[in-house]
Parts: sequence; structure tokens; C-alpha cells
Amino acid sequence: MKAPTPAQLRKLERAARAAATEAYAPYSRFRVGAAILMEGGRIFSGCNVENASYGLCNCAERTAIFSAVAAGRRELRCVLVYTPTKTATMPCGACRQVINEFGPEACVISICDSRERIETTLPTLLPGAFGPADLA
Ligand code: THU
Repeated sequence: MKAPTPAQLRKLERAARAAATEAYAPYSRFRVGAAILMEGGRIFSGCNVENASYGLCNCAERTAIFSAVAAGRRELRCVLVYTPTKTATMPCGACRQVINEFGPEACVISICDSRERIETTLPTLLPGAFGPADLA
């Protein structure tokens, strides 16, 4: 999968930081913003959206991915996660599985408010993933 250009990375970072300001996280107080780059160059973003019924909380990554799919974009190239914390946050297991559905080779980048930055790939985060091909 093609790595994002420096200009695309700057846009992803800006979009993820902006999305985090919209997080609805009254229970955990843990704000997350995600921005994703789709094949073709479009960028979508999302924040975490919590619920009084805790199990219904939706992560920022999935908010962004579901927005992209709802807009007709299905090929995911890169996911960037931002948290206003000192350490970088990686996508949870559920989000890794959802990333795999649309971007099995996607790059995954995590940034925060310190210099810590993690750059990896979905196959590294979810080796041996179960995916659409397994149902064929
Ligand atoms: N969260 C995300 O949005 N993305 C992650 O990768 C990890 C966790 C959210 C879910 C919940 O609203 C809060 O962070 C605490 O778990």
C-alpha cells in the first residue's frame, strides 16, 4: 500500500486533532481523534462517541471508517490516531479488525502531545487476521 505523502500526512494530522475536539467522552474523559486516507486521496475523520450504556461506545477509528464507507469509499490506505496525551494510543482490537476489512495493508500512525510517534502497519498489529477471504 502506498505510503501517504508529507502533504497528506499533514492533512491527516490536522484532521485527527480537529476531530478529537469533538469527542463525546463524558465517561472515560479520554478524547480520541482519527483521520483516514482512502484510495483516491479523500480524507475522513471521526471521534470517539460514548454512551451511558458503556458497551455501545464507538472508537474514533470506527467512526471515521464508517463515514468513509457511507460516502462510498472502501479502500483504506492509512489510519492516523491522535490523543491529547503524553503517550501515543494504538487502535483497540475491535478497530484493528474493522481496519482489516477495508485496509488489510494499511499503515497505522499514532501521535499525541509529546514527541512520541508510532508508525506501523495493520499486518503487524493484527497478524493472521480473519477477513473477507476466509468466507469465500
Ligand atoms: N478509544 C478510541 O476511540 N480509540 C482507540 O483506539 C482506543 C479507545 C476510545 C473508546 C472510549 O471512548 C475511550 O477511548 C476509552 O476507552
